[in-house]
Amino acid sequence: MKRDEAVPEILAALVPPGERDRLGPAWTTAVARVRLLESQLEQSEKMAGLGRLAAGIVHEVNNPLVAVTMYADSLFSKWGLGNGDPADLEKIAAIREAGLRIQKLTRELAAYASPSAGKTVPLDLAPLLEQAALICKPALKEVDAVLVRDFDEVPQVSGSRSALTQAFIDLLTNAAQAIRRGGTIRLGLHAAEGQVRVTVADDGEGMTTEVQQHLFEPFFTTRPGRGVGLGLATVKQIVERHDATVTIESTAGQGTRVTVALPIRGPAAPPGR
Ligand SMILES: Nc1ncnc2c1ncn2[C@@H]1O[C@H](COP(=O)(O)OP(=O)(O)OP(=O)(O)O)[C@@H](O)[C@H]1O
Ligand SMILES: [Mg+2]
Repeated sequence: MKRDEAVPEILAALVPPGERDRLGPAWTTAVARVRLLESQLEQSEKMAGLGRLAAGIVHEVNNPLVAVTMYADSLFSKWGLGNGDPADLEKIAAIREAGLRIQKLTRELAAYASPSAGKTVPLDLAPLLEQAALICKPALKEVDAVLVRDFDEVPQVSGSRSALTQAFIDLLTNAAQAIRRGGTIRLGLHAAEGQVRVTVADDGEGMTTEVQQHLFEPFFTTRPGRGVGLGLATVKQIVERHDATVTIESTAGQGTRVTVALPIRGPAAPPGR
């Protein structure tokens, strides 16, 4: 590629062509950096646009949907008392199911499209994990999951409480869906190498390497009809916005361990800044 090809506008304005040769490799590096920043900016603008679109859709879809599920509920209760044709009752149950499914899709779409909702604050992860576990209680109970905590005292991280809670809810839900009845989920909290690490490990069905290759793709699911396939894609978005990483180790038939590593919060800025 020629050095002057597609020079980002801002650099072209700042550095005259004659000066560029004098800068040599520093110029090439600067061009590459600015190009990267431009593409990141473009990506985040796209995501912000997608977020607004999703929020709009969620809003518009949810109101009529509440009517659908509410009336289906009320007809189901009325006809369930022996007043109706069992075939009709089945249809009403199907309408209700379909409504709830669309609700799940819109909720997950909103979480995926704007996971950064909520301001960045200093966070203790132990209570945040407890909160996520509490929200997942019904899903854990459904499969009689044994939830084992292994929490160290760890430093604070910085992040969005709502987004990180959402991420751990997604991971705990996946674990609950993967285990056999009475299976074990281990929730770990440790600190090492400047990071706080949260692990969610289950002794469930695990994944093949083929499945592992697609995990973070939006709408990838091996549970069609039940899963939307946005859980891990959302986790990835959230994690990236926290300068964190997510890694998944899994063996088919044995279980899965997901590790989210967040940077330890730096020293607080002095007051007035
Ligand atoms: N702990 C786990 N054990 C086994 N498989 C898992 C685990 N977590 C995720 N998976 C696999 O990864 C796929 C994608 O997970 P993801 O959370 O993104 O979507 P989903 O759970 O299928 O649907 P959703 O989360 O939108 O309800 C799942 O369908 C499943 O095959
Ligand atoms: Mg999921």
